[in-house]
Amino acid sequence: QSSKKKIGQCVHAINAEIDAAVQLLLKLKVDYKQMTGQDYKAGCPPSENLIVSNNGPAADDCDGEDLVDPWNVSASSTKGVDYDKLIVRFGSSKIDKELLERIEKVSGQRAHHFLRRGIFFSHRDMHQILDAYEKHKSFYLYTGRGPSSEAMHVGHLIPFIFTKWLQDVFDIPLVVQMTDDEKYLWKDLTLEECHRFTVENAKDIIACGFDVNKTFIFSDLDYMGASPQFYRNVVKVQKHVTFNQVKGIFGFTDSDCIGKISFPAIQAAPSFSSSFPQIFGGKKDVPCLIPCAIDQDPYFRMTRDVAPRIGLLKPALLHSTFFPALQGAQTKMSASDPNSSIFLTDTPKQIKNKINKHAFSGGKDTVEEHRKYGGNTEVDVSFLYLTFFLEDDEKLEKIKEDYTSGALLTGELKKILIETLQPMIAQHQERRKQVTDEMVQQFMTPRPLNYKF
Ligand code: TRP
Repeated sequence: QSSKKKIGQCVHAINAEIDAAVQLLLKLKVDYKQMTGQDYKAGCPPSENLIVSNNGPAADDCDGEDLVDPWNVSASSTKGVDYDKLIVRFGSSKIDKELLERIEKVSGQRAHHFLRRGIFFSHRDMHQILDAYEKHKSFYLYTGRGPSSEAMHVGHLIPFIFTKWLQDVFDIPLVVQMTDDEKYLWKDLTLEECHRFTVENAKDIIACGFDVNKTFIFSDLDYMGASPQFYRNVVKVQKHVTFNQVKGIFGFTDSDCIGKISFPAIQAAPSFSSSFPQIFGGKKDVPCLIPCAIDQDPYFRMTRDVAPRIGLLKPALLHSTFFPALQGAQTKMSASDPNSSIFLTDTPKQIKNKINKHAFSGGKDTVEEHRKYGGNTEVDVSFLYLTFFLEDDEKLEKIKEDYTSGALLTGELKKILIETLQPMIAQHQERRKQVTDEMVQQFMTPRPLNYKF
């Protein structure tokens, strides 16, 4: 009897020990995931890619992954990021032929070349936006910019050029968030500098041609404190997202300042129409469409996750690829490296020199070889830039053919790009000069916008 009891106690103790060990193992796995952003796999060290989505499957191989989050973009292949893989990892949808045709049908316009050429390549819930619009329900656009310096480069214009097209074809209001608070929290800059960059960058944004009657540009540093409804939405988001969740999405660690940890709620808030009572008269249910580069998606995965829990609509999204650095499609352009980008302030001569000197070429080393084997447009940065800025489809196709066959040399291709960008940048500079402080003030004043529902 007593030995039976002893065995029983012993089994109990062993079970408790096993339980404790299982618990410890589980905790270690959770810690591992929080620190690396990846699921633990025995015998598989964490890859360079330290951030994964909260709803996408974890990377199942150890190498060759692209790193894409709001602060880093680096690709493992010279062709750049594998965007099809990103769609799978982020759980978004591809902009396919059917959606393109619907956009054309509903808007009554030929799709923008960014759409036709797959530069905007992924979306969330775009069909719902179009369904509503077909039933004469309007929506609004939301995009933004982190003003980290005075100098903007051509890559920064991509979402704004596209947003302007959307505003024109759908005739809808737009809000532009300038996250000067974000840049203050992340960079070694003063509040005054960040706010000044907001105003300078706003001029470049206005120079893209937005309609002042339909566009509200705001600085977080100004608007957060001035708009009770905006702040209420920020707080609602803050209450319904845990530290664990943002750690998983953004890779925050215990040593990040608390400003960073709560910032995603501030980027989420403009997705809700009730954050702008002056525009929407307190309506909570005006759908929002966000055109942005794919690296901003983590913010909006979080936003879409929290929205139903606070009784608000999930925003829809259109995602663009990255604008490649002059040095190649492996990285996105960086405002801190002057030779990685064409700046909106560059002179015609600087544009020419930078392209001739730094644009990564997919051509062959000698003219003889190039004539014989032809160039590779998939990795050639000058060609890639032309897909962004040369609107004429036929011309672009001909350049592609000629470069691939070897008929067109790298120097000639670069010349075409130089002659495309020089007037484009000069015109931008001209339009920016026309933007007065009063105009900036007007765009940045909370006020009703002009649109019909
Ligand atoms: N975080 C973005 C940046 O650093 C700025 C931003 C805020 C944004 N809200 C946005 C970009 C909405 C796209 C869409 O540039």
